[in-house]
Amino acid sequence: MSKAELKIDDKVIELPVITGTENEPAIDISKLRAETGYVTLDYGLKNTAVTKSSITYLDGEKGILQYRGYPIEQLAEKSSFLEVAYLIIYGELPNKTELEDFTSGVTNHTLVHENMKKFYEGYPQHAHPMGVLSSMICALSAFYPDILEPEMDKKSLDLNVQRLLAKSATIAAWAYKNSIGHPVMYPQNRFDYSANFLYMMFAKPTEEYEVNDKMVSALNKLLILHADHEQNCSTSTVRVVGSSQANLYTSISAGVAALWGPLHGGANQAVVEMLQKIYDDGGATKENIDKWIKLFKDKNSGQRLMGFGHRVYKNFDPRARILKKAADEVLNELKVKDPLLDIAKKLEHHALNDDYFIEKKLYPNVDYYSGLLYRAMGIPTEMFTVMFALGRMPGWIANWIEMSQEKQPITRPRQIYTGETKREYVPLNKRG
Ligand code: SDX
Repeated sequence: MSKAELKIDDKVIELPVITGTENEPAIDISKLRAETGYVTLDYGLKNTAVTKSSITYLDGEKGILQYRGYPIEQLAEKSSFLEVAYLIIYGELPNKTELEDFTSGVTNHTLVHENMKKFYEGYPQHAHPMGVLSSMICALSAFYPDILEPEMDKKSLDLNVQRLLAKSATIAAWAYKNSIGHPVMYPQNRFDYSANFLYMMFAKPTEEYEVNDKMVSALNKLLILHADHEQNCSTSTVRVVGSSQANLYTSISAGVAALWGPLHGGANQAVVEMLQKIYDDGGATKENIDKWIKLFKDKNSGQRLMGFGHRVYKNFDPRARILKKAADEVLNELKVKDPLLDIAKKLEHHALNDDYFIEKKLYPNVDYYSGLLYRAMGIPTEMFTVMFALGRMPGWIANWIEMSQEKQPITRPRQIYTGETKREYVPLNKRG
């Protein structure tokens, strides 16, 4: 079907229908207001596609997630984070030379300008690292003003992509070091991306640091699983900010800010805090699990089963399946016994068999198990959403590039006004 008909009063208008490569149909309403004077209202854009995109495809009903056509299960098993970053940003898996050049480009830009190191002295030790990450990424535009060029050539764009991927990891690790009052650890070019991040997080100038390959492999998988997810809240934010022709760093800084919310990327921190609360309240006993499930179902309790539910996935989030398996494997390999994992599994089992969750199609999402993996690796809870941001960096960058290269118009939605109609000014001495 290439046309849809819309009848308003006694007028019928035809609207074009477009179909995506996976056969998702859409009604193009670009001319709706001009032809009818009507706009559409769609809170949360639950029914509205804001762009075409060739980066990521997901099917929420079938639990499918593909980056540039490659299934997430294969990439998580066989690829590396920088290889996946290249795929998402440039559209194809790199050949050997392309991967080597890209990897060395990122490796050689991990250093942050020494003046930026001074910024950390200004932050209070309890500063949340997401606030530090967002502001420091925006501050990069002060040190690399070429980013402000309206039309960056390919060389300059590639350089700034590599700077962002590289320096965001250093900025993140240094935010952690600042929060514990430890000296920062400079990146080591002998390490790959994940090993380097762990080194900057956990090494100390007072002793040798031995990279744990199991932790490196777990981090690599976590970053791949977070690398993109079509038009989620933070990616849409990057596109909206970038649509005003704001530079790449500033747009990504806004994406970090959007991800911080507990309904979005902040959920991984909220999941572990929720599990800890349940543990402190009586642990994984049947009575306690029943009590908390009841609270999660009661809207007035103010409690939600964090890590469950998704705007798009009305089936299992494929990433949650992979992360649940990885959580078991990594905790066994690292010989970590975490009672919160036992609580998470019992909650999941109970929710998956409870009509409330079944009817509302609430399943575990990417955030449900990811925090337990970060915790097993020794990453503190406040850094969990930062880890999500590091993983999502390639997706944000790719969407910003796709939007800018397609020269999309500035995003400026309409509204339905429900305020006062016109009224005259009342002088102060005449007001009640
Ligand atoms: C991410 O968009 C993406 O792609 C995001 C993401 C990515 O990779 O970028 O996948 C990452 O953000 C995952 C989601 C992380 N957030 C959480 O885990 C927070 C807990 N979940 C939710 O608050 C909620 O499920 C959302 C925000 C994820 C989705 O919300 P929607 O689509 O707006 O749905 P809703 O809030 O309207 O909920 C529908 C119903 C409501 O009940 P009714 O009003 O219909 O009676 O389900 C209920 C909700 O009360 N509900 C829950 C629930 N989630 C929804 N009830 C209890 N526990 C929950 N977790």
